[in-house]
Parts: sequence; C-alpha cells; structure tokens
Amino acid sequence: MRFIRNIYVFCSIVTSVECWAPKLPEERELTTNCSNMSLRKVPTDVTPTTTTLDLSFNLLFQLQSSDFRSVSKLKVLILCHNRIQELNIKIFELNKELRYLDVSYNRLKIVTWYSLASLRHLDLSFNDFDTMPICEETGNMSRLETLGLSGAKIQKSDFQKIAHLHLNTIFLGLRTLSHYEEGSLPILNTTKLHIVLPMNANFWVLLHDGIKTSKILEMANIDGKNQFVSYEIQQNLILENAKTSILLLSKVDLLWDDLHLIFQFVWHTSVEYFQIQNVTFGGKVDLDHNSFDYSNTVMRTIKLEHVHFRIFYIPQDKIYLLFTKMDIENLTISNAQMPHMLFPNYPTRFQYLNFANNILTDELFKRTIQLPHLKTLILKGNKLETLSLVSRFANNTPLKHLDLSQNLLQHKNDENCSWPETLVTMNLSSNKFADSVFRCLPTSIQILDLNDNQIQTVPKETIHLKSLRELNVAFNFLTDLPGCSHFSRLSILNVEMNLILSPSLDFFQSCQEVKTLNAGKNPFWCTCELKNFIQLEKYSKGMMLGWSDSYICEYPLNLKGTKLKDVHLPELSCNTAVLIVTIVVIMVVLGIAVAFCCLHFDLPWYLRMLGQWTQTWHRVRKTTQEQLKRNVQFHAFISYSEHDSLWVKNELIPNLEKEDGSVLICLPERNFDSGKSISENVISFVEKSYKSIFVLSPNFVQSEWCHYEFYFAHHDFFHENSDHIILILLEPIPFYCIPTRYHRLKVLMEKKAYLEWPKDRRKCGLFWSNLRAAINVNVPDTRETCVLQTFTELNEESRGSSISLMRTDCL
Ligand SMILES: *[C@@H]1O[C@H](CO)[C@@H](O)[C@H](O)[C@H]1NC(C)=O
Ligand SMILES: *[C@@H]1O[C@H](CO)[C@@H](O)[C@H](O)[C@H]1NC(C)=O
Ligand SMILES: *[C@@H]1O[C@H](CO)[C@@H](O)[C@H](O)[C@H]1NC(C)=O
Ligand SMILES: *[C@@H]1O[C@H](CO)[C@@H](O)[C@H](O)[C@H]1NC(C)=O
Ligand SMILES: *[C@@H]1O[C@H](CO)[C@@H](O)[C@H](O)[C@H]1NC(C)=O
Ligand SMILES: *[C@@H]1O[C@H](CO)[C@@H](O)[C@H](O)[C@H]1NC(C)=O
Ligand SMILES: *[C@@H]1O[C@H](CO)[C@@H](O)[C@H](O)[C@H]1NC(C)=O
Ligand SMILES: *[C@@H]1O[C@H](CO)[C@@H](O)[C@H](O)[C@H]1NC(C)=O
Repeated sequence: MRFIRNIYVFCSIVTSVECWAPKLPEERELTTNCSNMSLRKVPTDVTPTTTTLDLSFNLLFQLQSSDFRSVSKLKVLILCHNRIQELNIKIFELNKELRYLDVSYNRLKIVTWYSLASLRHLDLSFNDFDTMPICEETGNMSRLETLGLSGAKIQKSDFQKIAHLHLNTIFLGLRTLSHYEEGSLPILNTTKLHIVLPMNANFWVLLHDGIKTSKILEMANIDGKNQFVSYEIQQNLILENAKTSILLLSKVDLLWDDLHLIFQFVWHTSVEYFQIQNVTFGGKVDLDHNSFDYSNTVMRTIKLEHVHFRIFYIPQDKIYLLFTKMDIENLTISNAQMPHMLFPNYPTRFQYLNFANNILTDELFKRTIQLPHLKTLILKGNKLETLSLVSRFANNTPLKHLDLSQNLLQHKNDENCSWPETLVTMNLSSNKFADSVFRCLPTSIQILDLNDNQIQTVPKETIHLKSLRELNVAFNFLTDLPGCSHFSRLSILNVEMNLILSPSLDFFQSCQEVKTLNAGKNPFWCTCELKNFIQLEKYSKGMMLGWSDSYICEYPLNLKGTKLKDVHLPELSCNTAVLIVTIVVIMVVLGIAVAFCCLHFDLPWYLRMLGQWTQTWHRVRKTTQEQLKRNVQFHAFISYSEHDSLWVKNELIPNLEKEDGSVLICLPERNFDSGKSISENVISFVEKSYKSIFVLSPNFVQSEWCHYEFYFAHHDFFHENSDHIILILLEPIPFYCIPTRYHRLKVLMEKKAYLEWPKDRRKCGLFWSNLRAAINVNVPDTRETCVLQTFTELNEESRGSSISLMRTDCL
C-alpha cells in the first residue's frame, strides 16, 4: 500500500469547454493520466471528479470492486496493456456514466457480464478467451456501438446472443483462431467489421463470411504464407447476400498469384471500393495462365498504397495492364516504386488517376493514351521533367485537376504548350521551374500552386490568366510582389519566404480584388519604403495572412527581429513632401513670430540690451576685487545735463538704490574742487570712481560734452578701462547735432556703445537690470552704515548743467 501511495501520480487536467454553452466547473471534463507508471493496483487517490482515467501500460492484474467507486463521474476508462485476468463488469455498477471501457491487450479469460446501460464502447480484443466472451446480458446492452472481441473459437451460438444488436463496429482482434464455424460472422449486425487476423486463420473463409456481414470490411495482417493454403477448396463457394461495398486490406504480404486471385474474387462481389495498404508482393508473376475476367463487376475504385515488390523480375506490361484494363472510375497506385505505366490502346473510362510517389518519367507520355473521361490526374512525387509533354497529353483529355508537384519539371522557352480549356487547378509546387513557366500555363487556370520553385519575376510577356484566383509562389526568389496585370481576378496570393525587401505598392493598385495576401517570412527592409506597406495592413484588417508574427524586419541591423507591427517610421522623416512643407511652415511661422516681436516688442532693442548685459557680466566677472579697491574713492559718478535732472533724480537714482545688498550708492559731501577747472574736476572724479555714468541727450552734448571730449581723446575708451564708463542715451541725438569736433562722441554713437533709455515703460526692467549689471562691482563688505543723499551743484562755469557725484562713504 505504501508503495502505491508513494507513487507519483501524474495527473493532467484537461478542460473542455463546449461551444454552445459554457459548463459549470463541476461539470468539466477531467483527465487523470496514469499511463505507463508500473502500477500494480489502481491508485486510491484518484481525483473523485475524474471523467477520463487512463491506466494503460501498467502492471494491473486484478480489479477490485472498490477500485472505481470513488470516481463516480467516470466516463472513459482505459485499461489496455495490463495483465488483468478476470473482469467483472459489475464493479462499474456505480459508474453510471461510464461509456467507454477499453480492456484490450490483457490476459482475460473470464468476463462476468453486467448490463451497463450507458456503455457504448467496450473493447475486449487481444485477450486470452477460449470462446467469444458473449453472454445473454451482452445482448441487453442496447446502447453499445463498438464492441471489440477476441477468442480462440468462433461459433454461431455465441454471435446469436448479440444478433439483434445493431452495432457500428465489431472489432475482432484475434491472437489465435483455432476454430471458426462457417457462417458465424454473417449473424452479426454491424456496419463495419474489422478483423485483425492471427497467424493461422483461414483468410478465404473469413473474407467470404466478412463480405456477407457488413457494409465496410477491413482485414489486417494478411500473410500469404499461412492463410492461403485452403483456397482451392473455397474457390467454388458461391457468394450470395454479399453486403460489403468497401473492402480494406492492410499489412498484406502475398504472392502475386494470391493477390491476383483476391482481385478476381472481389471483382465479382458487391465491393465498389477496394483499398490495399502496405502490401508486399512475392513469388513469380506468371499471368498467362490466369487471365483476368473483367466482366460483370460493380467495382469503381481501386487503391493500392505503399506497395513493395519482393519479385526480382517484374513483367511490367502485364502488371500495369492488369490494373489499367480494369477500366473503372478511380485508380490509385501510390508509393509503389513504379517506373512506368501502360494503358490499353483503346479509350478507357478512368476519371481519377493517382500515381503519386512513384518513379514515373517523361516516357509515360511518349505513347498516346486515350482517357476521354479523365478529370483528375495526380503525378505528384515522380521524376517527370518536361512540362510541355504533359500539356500535350492533357490537351487530349477533359482534365480539371492536375497535380505535378514534387517532380523535376522545367519549361524551356522554345517549347510549345497546349493545355485543355477545362483545367481549373494545377499544382506545380516543388519543381525546377524558372520564370519561363508563366509561358506554359492554361488560360483557364483558377488555382495555381508554384510553391518552392526558382521563380525570380513574373515576366512581362506572360499570357493573361484571366481566371486565376489563387496563386501560390511561396519559397521562390521573387524580389517584389507580382503585379496583377496578367491575372486581373487574383484574390489569394502567397509570396511567403521569398526575397522581398520592400513590397511595391503598385501591387495593391493593380490587384484590386486581392483579399488575402501572405507575404510573411520575407527579409523585410524596415526603412521608409516599407511604411506604406505597414499602413496598408492597418487599413485592410485581416488581409495579410500571418500578421504580425511572420512579418519581421531583417535590415537594418538595429531593427533585425522586430515585428513590422512594432516598427515606428515617423511620417516626417519618410515623406519628403511633408518634410519640406513642415520646414517651410516652421520657417514662415518663425519669420512671422520674429517680425511680430520686432514690430510689437522691439525685439532688436531687447537683443542688443541682452548682448550688452552679458558682455558687462563677463567684464565684471573678470575684474578682480583687488583692481576695484585700488584707487576707488567713489562708487559711481553721474554726469548729466540740468535738463535731464528730473529723470536722474526720479528714475536713475531711485532705481540704482533699489538694488539691495549688491550696490549701494552713496553721496559725497564734497563739491568739485573750485581751484581746478571743470575738466580737471571731471577727470579727477572719473578716475576716483568705480563707474562713470554719462546721461547723453542733445542738451548734454551741447553743454557738457566739451569737458569730456578731450578726456576720451586721451583715454582709449574702447580698450583700457572701457568698463568704467557707462553711457546712457536718454534721448536720440541726431547726427547733425553733434559738432564736428566731437569725433569721439561720433565714434561712440556709431558703435552704439551706450545703453538706450527705452520709450516703452515695459522695457525699463531690462534697462535697469542691464545698468545694474554694468555697475555691479563687488563693493567691499564694510558698507552697512552708508548714508544716502543726493547732491547737485550749480556751477557758473557750467551753467545749466549739474554734476552729481556719488561716493561710497564707508566707515
Ligand atoms: C496518457 O499519456 C500517454 C503518454 O504518456 C498518452 O499516450 C495517452 O494518450 C494519454 N492518455 C490520455 C487519455 O490522454
Ligand atoms: C513507458 O515509459 C518508458 C520509459 O519510462 C518508455 O521507454 C516506453 O516507451 C513507455 N511506453 C509507452 C507505451 O508509452
Ligand atoms: C434483458 O432485458 C430484458 C428486458 O429488458 C429482461 O427481460 C431480461 O431478463 C434481460 N436479460 C438479462 C440476462 O438480464
Ligand atoms: C440490423 O439492424 C438494423 C437496424 O436495427 C435493422 O434494420 C436490420 O434489419 C438488421 N439486420 C439484420 C440482418 O438483422
Ligand atoms: C503503411 O506503411 C506506412 C509506411 O510504411 C505507414 O506510415 C502506415 O501507417 C502504414 N499503414 C498501415 C495501415 O499499416
Ligand atoms: C473518385 O475519386 C474522386 C476524387 O477523389 C471522388 O470525388 C469520387 O467520388 C471517386 N469516385 C468513386 C466512384 O469512388
Ligand atoms: C500541392 O502539392 C503540395 C505537395 O505535393 C501540397 O502540400 C499542396 O497543398 C498542394 N497545393 C494545393 C493547392 O493543393
Ligand atoms: C512551336 O510552334 C511554332 C509555331 O507555332 C513552331 O514554329 C515551333 O517549331 C514549335 N516549337 C516546338 C519546339 O515544337
């Protein structure tokens, strides 16, 4: 027990949601998969809500009545490939919903039946029963659809008990068959009978009875060495009440002669569809003695798949003609290593021929073949080389569907093609076609597959494929989307895996009817040219198949691996017109803004002032404190005309004083030295001050400038000490007003080396900050006790002018 508890039970939960109504959680399907876990007992801890329990490939040998009590919701129980020897169906008494029970591949010898009403699928095949495990109760399970049985003996009395049940499928998975009572199988009432033959079964008897039993008969594991001994005896059986219309044989290993006999036998039964899969022929082919009786048949379709020959010498003509002379509707011989195929020299009724995956060559079409009813021809996976040959063959048929994929086909330009007007679909994928293939196509074609070839472009001189709706040119070497000039009705185009860097938009103009485009997995070059393509997907939602996972940038390297969807290509950088327009608009707006500022706010004035301010700022920063301290006696010296005194007193001085902490203006108690001339006084004060401020106005020029002209003449205003002097232009001075002798002043006016008093009051702020910056010297710290006064003196020699001196009076 502990061992079992310790077993790790791997449980996977499968949730199935039905479309029409979501189920409540407790009604959900729950699969517990304990397959292949070396279990010896049914685990006791299975989730009670489990609906599907897989216990296959374990070592279970006994089932207890309690094993499945807890899983009352169980619907599907798989117990195959275990070692169970005895089964009592009554243990599922409480599993009312159990409908699928698979106990195949066990060692069952005894089954105790119990009528489980819900059971639909019960598989007891491949067990060790002596006789068929059928009881009276079996006959009461009216819901049963599929029943798998096994047993060494088959007798009528067993089947009689279920004769009244109409079953879908009866599967006889036999390990051995020691006795078969003839006529047993036809007692069963089933749509399909599937028999896996054991080694020594009598094939013929089972085939006879099988054909009398069900509509579909499938027989597997047919081994000519053991099962065909008693044919001669069975040969004369008259087949009455044949029911089978579909006969499937698989895993067949036969002598050719036996296969021939089977065909001949089946030919005269009710079988319409005869399929043999995985067949190996052996022995000698000696058909001369066994000429085939083609008369009197209902056969319509013969299908041979996966055929191997164990014959060294094959009289090809005889074998091929055996089949082609059958003259039925459908014939398939695929995966048979057939190098050739022959047809009788008279017209046959074949409508569907499938010779896929053989080794047929162009030889096939070298002889005239008369197939006036052929609709579908499948020659996929052969060794055909010349398309024009196929076309000439096809032209004599009413062919609709042609599959030539996986051959070695090419088309050379000088060859003439002539296709029937009936052709609708053509599969030319996985061949060696180049661009020239477009010159050898039927104009009626609607669906064309040219996947996996060597096409580089769709040439200009292509025939007009007026009906083409679907074109697949994936896995080629196209560098651009093909336009639709040659196929105006195209609606589905696949150009996956080509070499398209940036699809041209001509395509979308010429291909108006295209509804689906698959252009994924191309090495997209994510530059501006791709922008429209990306946009297109946004407008035509759902048109591009595989969007967005298959659409990935290859270049440039920084975008490699990015989905096209996520690439952002700004309109501005991609569209030249927009770019130019944007630049022009910005320029115009800027121009207008500048003009507006110039006109409305006198921008040049501001700019000039700002320029001066920054220059001053630089200069001030350069002057060290030491220099300033040196011969300083006054902080600032202001010179102005009496006419302007009002402005000086009301505007200039208050505004200079306003500055708190950085500049303090102090008034000296002293006058000009009366013993000296005004000019001398001026020079001495200019030199004793940090800054000299001259308030220029026409009055000042006329009355005062004479005192300074010579001073400026001796000191190079613009080079040395230039930052001492501050000129304020209070009013514009017309040039003609300046006397010619004042050429210093003229130079100053020309160079505009002054601060201009703005007429506009709004600009005054900047003017003052500029002025303050100009006189903003780092005055020594000991100025706390400065007293501010204003002093004006009227001097005879300088009538009408007043000179104000300001000095730092520091204690
Ligand atoms: C359980 O798992 C095995 C492989 O481990 C798988 O073959 C089998 O189909 C699973 N059974 C069911 C019911 O899903
Ligand atoms: C069971 O598991 C073993 C290894 O665990 C594996 O080799 C074997 O193929 C599995 N059998 C089946 C039927 O899944
Ligand atoms: C089968 O069912 C019928 C009626 O449903 C009943 O009379 C008969 O006894 C049942 N047989 C067995 C063996 O259970
Ligand atoms: C088989 O079952 C079906 C449906 O129940 C019935 O129509 C048919 O007659 C039965 N065939 C025989 C041979 O009993
Ligand atoms: C026949 O053989 C092929 C490959 O040999 C295989 O894929 C296929 O499943 C087999 N079919 C049957 C019915 O055995
Ligand atoms: C022949 O094959 C075609 C195509 O597979 C199919 O449509 C048609 O029904 C078949 N005819 C018969 C008689 O099986
Ligand atoms: C063409 O043939 C290939 C393989 O032979 C197949 O994958 C493809 O689906 C076929 N195309 C069409 C349109 O049927
Ligand atoms: C193709 O047809 C033209 C005339 O239609 C003919 O001159 C030419 O020889 C033909 N080419 C081949 C290879 O048959």
